[in-house]
Amino acid sequence: MAKILLIHGPNLNLLGQRETDIYGDLSLEAINMAAKKQVEAADIELQTFQSNSESAIVDCVQQAKAAKVSLIVINPAAYTHTSVAIRDALLAVEIPFIEVHLSNPHRREPFRHHSYFSDIAEAVVAGFGADSYRYALDAAINTITNKESR
Ligand code: DQA
Repeated sequence: MAKILLIHGPNLNLLGQRETDIYGDLSLEAINMAAKKQVEAADIELQTFQSNSESAIVDCVQQAKAAKVSLIVINPAAYTHTSVAIRDALLAVEIPFIEVHLSNPHRREPFRHHSYFSDIAEAVVAGFGADSYRYALDAAINTITNKESR
């Protein structure tokens, strides 16, 4: 069975409580539950992971290779704008990934305009709130399904 890995970066454990005017009311648990339902309906396995620690995210990405993950969907959160280490891990494992953001970083402070991921991502989905995950996972499912039927 194909597998998608959904990674959430720092402070996303506080979704639903944190700056709800920007990030919305849904908890991370609710987002993960909806994601599981969506992905499993397509007969694909979903693994989810959240950490506030850069090194834990690097380890998770490295382990994805051995776990035979087909595609990664990642919201690197604040590490989007800082982490060469997570970028290098994604390049090292050579697993295609989609970058996701709840908000549209380009409408926000200038320091959020640069991403260490966008130029190496398959695609970027941003600005749709929790629906960003739904759209990104839809694209991930289509990519995997189309590859399998070829
Ligand atoms: C975010 C945008 C980042 O700039 C911010 O640091 C986050 C969340 C988003 O999903 O909109 O923590 O990745």
